[in-house]
Amino acid sequence: MKNIGVAGPWITELETSYVADAAKNAWFSNHAVYHQRFEAAFADAIGTPYAMALPSCTSALHLILAALGIGPGDEVIVSDATWIASSAPISYVGATPVFVDMDPLTWCMDARAFERAISEKTKAAIVVDLYGGMPDWDALEGIASAHNIPLIEDAAEAVGSCYKGRMAGSFGVAGAFSFHGSKTMTTGEGGMLVTDDKVLFERAQFLRDHGRPAGDRFFQNTEVGFKYKMSAMQAAMGLAQTERLDELVERKQAIFGWYEKALAGRDDIVLNHQPADVLNSYWMVTAVLDKSLGIKKLDLMESLSGHGIDSRPFFHPLSSLHAYENSPQAIKARDENKVAYDISPRGINLPSGFQLDEETVQTVCEKFQQSIGELQSATR
Ligand SMILES: Cc1ncc(COP(=O)(O)O)c(C=O)c1O
Repeated sequence: MKNIGVAGPWITELETSYVADAAKNAWFSNHAVYHQRFEAAFADAIGTPYAMALPSCTSALHLILAALGIGPGDEVIVSDATWIASSAPISYVGATPVFVDMDPLTWCMDARAFERAISEKTKAAIVVDLYGGMPDWDALEGIASAHNIPLIEDAAEAVGSCYKGRMAGSFGVAGAFSFHGSKTMTTGEGGMLVTDDKVLFERAQFLRDHGRPAGDRFFQNTEVGFKYKMSAMQAAMGLAQTERLDELVERKQAIFGWYEKALAGRDDIVLNHQPADVLNSYWMVTAVLDKSLGIKKLDLMESLSGHGIDSRPFFHPLSSLHAYENSPQAIKARDENKVAYDISPRGINLPSGFQLDEETVQTVCEKFQQSIGELQSATR
């Protein structure tokens, strides 16, 4: 049987025609045409006035922190269970990440845990829309504004998700998206910073262009900054994907629906949560196994791999990684973040790419349940 990959994009003639046009024509005085069209279309889709195309979501988070002036001695609160790209930029600016627990249903930052983690050193919080799900934004925004703490939305995995009519990326002072090849919308590698704060946007623009004033043609750098840009070919692909965003999100929801149908009746398997006021764009279909099954995610992944099915582990709590081994904040988090440490070892991401059809999802679910059965009998 052919291996079933865990992710994969949906590229049509629209993308290839825009990219080919960019390769031929987006040079010299036309070099920025696709960037401008992509940024305008994306800002419009998210409902924020400003958007900046970047080489990655990691660079977007880095720029936001740098533009806010966060640095050594400052603390930034971040979800514990996420990809390390959510927290690494905190270290890039010399600040300290403080890892907080997640909500057991949304798997996103728990509002009470956020409030408990606030100290006089807290200068921002990075909230992640995990796997396309949305946290309790009302609660988080209420706490953040009471304490005057800027929220940064890591919407890397949530393009097209929506909370009470507001699009993912539009919460907090600024949002960051990823267009990595595995994401719902892709430019191969890429990212976007969105914000409604003109001052923050202009500062980020200055910093991403080696610290030179807007419009400078005479190489008059006034600060040492960064070089964070994407190519016109990537921007052309991003424009096409943005024009097809509704279609991409609808297909993600259909894929999730096929999984729900195939696993209906299994109350020992919990899939991604979608509260009534949320539209979850289901970047990755994620299954958390009930404790009673006694199965560990890495064993399950290995078994699935034996059946030709690719999967990914639920993100390990960042505080459990060697990268943060000796950080006092991680040591504290290892003790306190009970929900992340309970759920993460029992969760995996199942194939969620656009190459899937309903029949393939049914096959995946059969093999998935077979693997669970095999692992259970092996431990009996
Ligand atoms: C939650 C989260 N944040 C940030 C990133 C970083 O995105 P990029 O790879 O575009 O830098 C990712 C990408 O995998 C992610 O999943």
